[in-house]
Amino acid sequence: FLSHFKPAAAVAIAALMIGAGAADAKNFKIAVGDSAGSAQEATGKAFVTALEEKSGGKHTATLFLNGQLGSEEVTVNDAAMGTLDMSLLAINNITPYSPTVGVFSLPYVILSLEDAEKLTQGPIGEELTQNTINDAGVRIIAWTYTGFRVLTNSKKPVKSVADLQGLVVRVPKNEIMIDTYKAWGINPTPMAWSETFTALQQQVVDGQDNPYLTVNAMKFYEVQKYITNIRYIFSIEPLIISESLFQSLSADEQQMILDAGQAATQASAQFLRDSEAAIKQDLLAKGMEISDPENGEEEFIKLATEAVWPKFYDSIGGVEKLNAVLETLGRAPV
Ligand code: MLT
Repeated sequence: FLSHFKPAAAVAIAALMIGAGAADAKNFKIAVGDSAGSAQEATGKAFVTALEEKSGGKHTATLFLNGQLGSEEVTVNDAAMGTLDMSLLAINNITPYSPTVGVFSLPYVILSLEDAEKLTQGPIGEELTQNTINDAGVRIIAWTYTGFRVLTNSKKPVKSVADLQGLVVRVPKNEIMIDTYKAWGINPTPMAWSETFTALQQQVVDGQDNPYLTVNAMKFYEVQKYITNIRYIFSIEPLIISESLFQSLSADEQQMILDAGQAATQASAQFLRDSEAAIKQDLLAKGMEISDPENGEEEFIKLATEAVWPKFYDSIGGVEKLNAVLETLGRAPV
């Protein structure tokens, strides 16, 4: 009996060890709202590379582009439930689940890439990360910087608030953005990101806003003609991980993920600096017409900040949160 048992046990133990080793190697699924060539994809790729490098090739992650794993808004819930590992999405699509991140979408608060870096990579970014864990069950592990959300439409050049009247503009399901367009005198159409291209194509809506990089990657130039360089929101698109998944990982694995996230954040800023000007030229070459708002955007700024900021003090955690942001950016408090 013993002579038969030993080799069998050894085989069983060896099989267990191989099994454990294989189970340890992770391949995280990352939902990505945008297509190939987008800022989101650049962040995702940089994250995968850094994770593979930091884990000596043991762990990796796979990007599922173009909303294949669900529209951006839905992925927050899926990650919270633990049915999805990670998602790359615009922060405005997290705000409904964790209202304090709305401070990054208040119109004309973030005025440059440098502002965005300062806020996301400092104590305010840490506080908002903690808030999304508590409110939404997801942890922000990297930041994508995509540039200003410019207005596109298929009907006419828009240079003033008056020009905007009569246009049907799609916005994310985000109260701050809805109210901003209302302050500009129109009633926008809230719509999921995954439905936006088709809605533009079928002329259910005339326009939308998103950064040059997104307009280009999503091929909106095929269905949109005019761009207005409004600068009301600087688009920030975090990489989030399911908090329950994060907590199930070892301390080492958690650290690798946070480090890979940091590397991805740095890569994202570089991607924007390297590509935005060329992508603008590309959109012109593809036939889009680009205008600046008249009078240095003065009217857009005045209407939006006066009407929208006070309305959201409560949801972002009090006027003092906005003042902390403004102080970080070296600007006067309200
Ligand atoms: C949106 O408009 O819903 C988002 O900005 C889409 C995106 O992630 O590019």
